[in-house]
Order: sequence, then structure tokens, then C-alpha cells
Amino acid sequence: MERIIVKKSGPLKGSVKIDGAKNSALPIIAASLLGTEPITLEEVPNLKDVQIILKVLQELGAKVEFLDDTTVRIDSSSIDKYEASYELMSKMRASFLVMGPLLTRFGKTRTSLPGGCAIGSRPIDLHLKGFKALEAELNVDDYVIEATAENGLVGKTIYLDFPSVGATQNIMMAATMAQGETVIENPAKEPEIVDLANFLNKLGADVKGAGTSTIRIRGVEKLGGTIHQIIPDRIEATTFMVASAITGGDITIKNCITSHILPVIAKLREMGCKVVENEDDTIRVYCDKKLCGTYIKTLPYPGFPTDAQAQFMALMSVVDGQSKVEETVFENRFMHVEELTKMGAIIATDGSEARIAGVPQLKGAKVRATDLRAGAALVLAGLTTEEETTVSDIYHIDRGYNDIVGKLKALGADIRREEMD
Ligand code: EPZ
Repeated sequence: MERIIVKKSGPLKGSVKIDGAKNSALPIIAASLLGTEPITLEEVPNLKDVQIILKVLQELGAKVEFLDDTTVRIDSSSIDKYEASYELMSKMRASFLVMGPLLTRFGKTRTSLPGGCAIGSRPIDLHLKGFKALEAELNVDDYVIEATAENGLVGKTIYLDFPSVGATQNIMMAATMAQGETVIENPAKEPEIVDLANFLNKLGADVKGAGTSTIRIRGVEKLGGTIHQIIPDRIEATTFMVASAITGGDITIKNCITSHILPVIAKLREMGCKVVENEDDTIRVYCDKKLCGTYIKTLPYPGFPTDAQAQFMALMSVVDGQSKVEETVFENRFMHVEELTKMGAIIATDGSEARIAGVPQLKGAKVRATDLRAGAALVLAGLTTEEETTVSDIYHIDRGYNDIVGKLKALGADIRREEMD
């Protein structure tokens, strides 16, 4: 097992190029099951989760070939299976996104129930509500879901009780070859939803309204192939912006779409950071004074992203004054609080609320990553400790960040990975 050793660094200075978005690559790779001609995806991030879902596609019979580090060619024209193995599917809940494509392409699918994880039970009731509405027959047991639509799916209007990202994506993909029109009301509006819709339309689908409160999909007979570039990862960008703020640094973020992270920019400015949006799609984040606390409330897009909550809590732990965090998207996304507290952070939680009192200095400690973004937050906190901070269980971090150690080191961080004895 590996761990990350990090200590007081900085101010971090320099520039970092952001990779393609994990949360866009995963649904778009799943959607590649719909294509009957070759698909080339560019800016695919080199992450554990991406490797897993590509293996799922290969197991279903798709041909997958990396043309270079970030360009992958997928050919699903001859896939002949509609069932992926339990052990692969259970490794990553996002593999559940293959259900919609398989169901609409084959009229039948068997997929394993996605597991919950540290941040919440992660139910799939809204996914199933959508498939049922499209007239699929569902058979659910403790581990597997079997769905059939012998005469094909039939378009309907579906209201999502919560704007679930995954449910919106699964229903969109299933609706691309359903008979007639499907309308999704109260869908997720994240940039990754828009990127998926753009990709589906390039395959020949008819998806309108992605990013708004109503998405309309008119079913088509067949989908072809295309070349598509994955949008930049707004959460990786956020993580490096916080790295600049927490070390009083001056970092330029390359390959970032400002309009995707407006709440993050607003909150960094509220805390006293300077955030300069340049013409060339780069953002410069630097601090020329002590930062102060603020209040964030996580919400579905375009609200403050839940995936940036842990990183901001690390920053709030070391700025002047009080801060407050309200986590409204997941029911258990404060696992990093206990770990930050080991480093001397002063954080009190009460249900979905956390109150943070900034301290002048955190102390090095042995902490463990409990989930992907919590792990990143602990690394960020470790950039401020005089003594070494050791972060273990870093496989969580590798799921969502490609070489976070190398990128931080290039900015001047005192950080390394090492095998645990
Ligand atoms: C996606 O997860 C992201 N993952 C998550 O990023 C992100 O935190 C989340 O969206 C919210 O933005 C990927 O895109 C692969 P949801 P997803 O369905 O689709 C409830 C990261 O760090 N819900 O929008 O699983 C659910 O319990 C990861 O990169 C239902 O109640 O999120 C949760 O409370 C973590 N029923 C809320 O909706 C359902 O059927 C948001 O879940 C589905 C979801």
C-alpha cells in the first residue's frame, strides 16, 4: 500500500494543466456502447476509475485502444453481451451507467447493483424510476438488476425528485433509441450533463435542453461514431486553486472553463483571494493578504459543488475567523472532519452543518483518505504543517487525480509517495 508524505510548502508558484473531467469521461465512455462506428475520445484522464469502466466495455465486447496517453479509440460495433461481471461492476458505482446504453441497444441488461460508499448510501431509485417509465421490466435482487424491454423502450415524461447527475445521464442514454420523445423534468444541469448531450448528438442522437430544467430526447434508430474532446475537470481545477490559497501562493490553472466554477471563484474571492480570469482559458489564483472565513452551502449545479466541499474545509481550517459549511447533496460527506481534527483543526458538526474556527497552524499527523475528495483535502491541509503529514489509503485519491503528487511537486510542494512498510 502506498501513502503520501507532505509538509509545509510554498508558497506554491507556477502553472498546472488540468486533465479531462473524470465525471464527464465516465458517462461518455459508457455512452460509447451506443455507437455502431468507431469513437475517438480525447483528453481522457488517466485514472483508476477510467481504467475500470474501459475494462467493463472490453468485457462486453467493445474494442478499446489507447492512441496516446489521453486519446482512446472505442469500437462497440460488435458488442454482443449485455451483462458485465459483478466483480468489475462492483469496483466502481459509475459502472452502473452502462445500464441505460445496454438497455436501449439490446432491450435487455443485467447489471450489478452499485455499492454505496463512504459519503452516502447512494441509492438508484431515480435511475429505476426512469427505466420503469420508459416501459422496461425490472427484476431487482440483492446484487443484480435485470431489465428487459422486449418491444424497445417507449419515450415518456419523467420528473426527477432530486436532480441526480447519474440518473439524468442513465435516462438520457436510454432515451436516445426509445420510441418517441422522452422529457426529463428537474434534471441535473452540471457541465458534465451538457458534455454528454453534446457527445450523444455527435453520435446522431436528438437531445435538446441539456443544462436547463427540461431535457427533451427524441429517439432515433441508430447511433454512429464521432471524435469528442472531454471537458476539463472543474474539480481538479478547484483543488489546485485551493492549493494556491492554502499556501499563500500564486498558481495559474491551465485548461479550465471559468463558467463551470463560478461559485468556487466567488467563495475564494470572499475569503480574500485574488482570482484573475485570463482570455486564454487560464485562471490565476494568488493571495496577497491573510484570508478570512466564509460560508458555503453545497447544492446541485449551478450551486457550490459538493465535490469541492472537503477541499474548502481544509482551507477554512487555517484562515482567520469562523466558517460554516452546509452539505445538502450527500448525507455523510464529513468523513474528512475527524481526520482534519487529528491535525488540530477546530471543527464542530451537527447533522449536515459544520462550523470551523480557523487556527494559526495545523500540526503534522497520520491521517487516512476516507473518500476521493477527502483525501485531496488532507493533502492540501498537509501543505501547511511544519511536521510531516502522512496520508494513507491514497487509492481513493488515485481514483480521481492523475499524479497529484507530481503536479504539486512541480509547483514547489514538499511531497512524496512511498510504499508503506
Ligand atoms: C455524481 O455522482 C458524481 N460522480 C459525484 O462525484 C458527485 O459528487 C455527484 O454526481 C453530485 O454532483 C460521477 O459523476 C461519476 P447524484 P452521482 O446521483 O451521479 C441522491 C466525485 O468525487 N440520489 O447526483 O452518484 C444521492 O443519494 C464523485 O467525483 C437518490 O436519492 O450523484 C445523493 O444524495 C463523488 N436517488 C444525491 O442524489 C438516485 O437514484 C446526489 O447524487 C440517485 C441519487
